[in-house]
Amino acid sequence: MVPITDAEFVEFTRLVNQLTGIVLDDTKRYLIETRIGPLVDELKLSNYRSLLDLVKSGGKPALQERIIDAITTNETFFFREPGAFDLLRRRLIPKALDERTGSRSREPMRIWSAACSSGQEMYSLAISALELIGTIATERIAIDGSDISEQILARASLGAYSQFEVNRGMPANLLSKYFTATPTGFRVVDHIRAMCSFNKANLLRLGPMMHRYDVILCRNVSIYFSPAERIVLFRSLANCLIPGGALIVGSTEQVRDCESILRMVNDFPGCYYYQRI
Ligand SMILES: C[S@@+](CC[C@H](N)C(=O)[O-])C[C@H]1O[C@@H](n2cnc3c(N)ncnc32)[C@H](O)[C@@H]1O
Repeated sequence: MVPITDAEFVEFTRLVNQLTGIVLDDTKRYLIETRIGPLVDELKLSNYRSLLDLVKSGGKPALQERIIDAITTNETFFFREPGAFDLLRRRLIPKALDERTGSRSREPMRIWSAACSSGQEMYSLAISALELIGTIATERIAIDGSDISEQILARASLGAYSQFEVNRGMPANLLSKYFTATPTGFRVVDHIRAMCSFNKANLLRLGPMMHRYDVILCRNVSIYFSPAERIVLFRSLANCLIPGGALIVGSTEQVRDCESILRMVNDFPGCYYYQRI
């Protein structure tokens, strides 16, 4: 594999930041070499400079997608940080459904898994809802998933997982209830996939949204951004919530400088969250 020079590394980190908001510091040189190096080899280029020139020339737009797919970290698993799913079952789903009376009674509760990766978070949400209210959840709850990587989003919408992937967090009783066996592993049943829709979105450049959400989960993604980009992210997510709606972040993430629109709620054991004012 061709080693990356200092100048190429600096330019690459700039390009990745422009495309995704992800900040790569000097310790992440290996990340570029191991993830982008194979692309340099595949295109039979002699160095990273030639790849940068190709991307900048704009002649191959698919190359940007390849770089985004390669550089994003898609680690996820079913029922990750389980306090969030308890919070949904015990507080947020009952609250949202109680609020749907009169003319709003036919509107589904809307949940957004922002940065959904390969979909485990979305299907864990759908299963939590089905376990709580039964099959009526398919009409009363709508789950949107988005990610910046087209490749990972395609995997999410397929809803197919290996044995190894279901072993990471999916209890055996729920696996047999909500998945069918396939030659390569397991696939989420159709009525769960029908509750879910998928859209490509860069969370740092959100355009006008189709809906306002009751709940947004944006977990384990802000850690890759700069402090200034985190503020942009959380402010724009807050604007996508209905008043009183909930933003759930990862257990190592914190929302700062958004006090005028989000208030922290920390009275639920095992999961704090933020409520749209
Ligand atoms: C570590 S995964 C987290 C998945 C899931 N939320 C969880 O907590 O298990 C981070 C995801 O964020 C996505 N991502 C990174 N930058 C993004 C951006 N600017 N906009 C949208 N998604 C982004 C990546 O493609 C990746 O799938």
